[in-house]
Amino acid sequence: MTIAYLDGEFHQLADIRISPLDRGFLFADGVYEVIPVYAGRLFRRDAHLERLARSLAEIRIEDPLGREGWIALLETIVERNGGGEQAVYMQVTRGVAPRDHAFPQPVTPTVFAMTRLRQGDPPTDPIDAVTCPDIRWSRCDIKSVSLLPNVLMRQAAKDAAASEAIFIRDGQLTEGTATNVFVVEGHCVRTPAKSAYILGGITRDVVIELAGDAGMVCIEEPVSETALRAAEEIWVTSSTKEITPVVRLDGRTVGAGVPGPLWQHAHGLFQDYKRRLARGETD
Ligand code: PDD
Repeated sequence: MTIAYLDGEFHQLADIRISPLDRGFLFADGVYEVIPVYAGRLFRRDAHLERLARSLAEIRIEDPLGREGWIALLETIVERNGGGEQAVYMQVTRGVAPRDHAFPQPVTPTVFAMTRLRQGDPPTDPIDAVTCPDIRWSRCDIKSVSLLPNVLMRQAAKDAAASEAIFIRDGQLTEGTATNVFVVEGHCVRTPAKSAYILGGITRDVVIELAGDAGMVCIEEPVSETALRAAEEIWVTSSTKEITPVVRLDGRTVGAGVPGPLWQHAHGLFQDYKRRLARGETD
């Protein structure tokens, strides 16, 4: 059992109760973050907190804790759950109020956090993926808890014995249901540029940084569905999947059907980065 947080108090996760009038439950009126923890250290804590602050501002919820408050919460929840390897989930909703679409006044945001304990590194075994139409809204840059299209498409992937679904909008790759996507063509790695149609992933940023520092060619630009299908390598990235190679897309083999050489390189760089984080040499 893990220790979780709700509105200023820590409890066993199983003992936490949230009102059915919470707007997160009634309207998915809230935002969230997931921060990986390696050797007790939060991965890119400040970048995650900046993205959370931005998501809150975009949906007009006043930040209930502020940077210092979030840091205190995060450090406490990691420590109370024994440090080590975790993934902390934080969610803020607009709060509890009689059901009415417009913002209630006044209202106190609900702040919830829990953590998932991990044994060792997240799996980065090769996966199968499928493509699907991007039926989401046009503010995918907000890390909203409104994830029904992502849920439906991830299930469609599972029904097809695949692990991830990759969204296509107007003939262009956007992202996965809970991942950003990279494609390799020759010596060049490409990923869609940040826009309102994708979440600006923190793992994505780190991969671009590490690849650039190591002299790999990594470009942020539109990737067409055709380019996706022709890719020699496809990777998906996220806080919980790190960099995972996709070896089959819609049932067809990607490249040689095994994790490619550029993935091996990027994966190695990422593992080195985690070791530096564990030694406290980076964030
Ligand atoms: N999801 N795109 C979407 C739609 C996501 O939901 C996520 C992360 C990402 C990758 O972002 P990051 O690298 O910052 O984790 C991209 C989290 C892990 C989740 O929903 O559990």
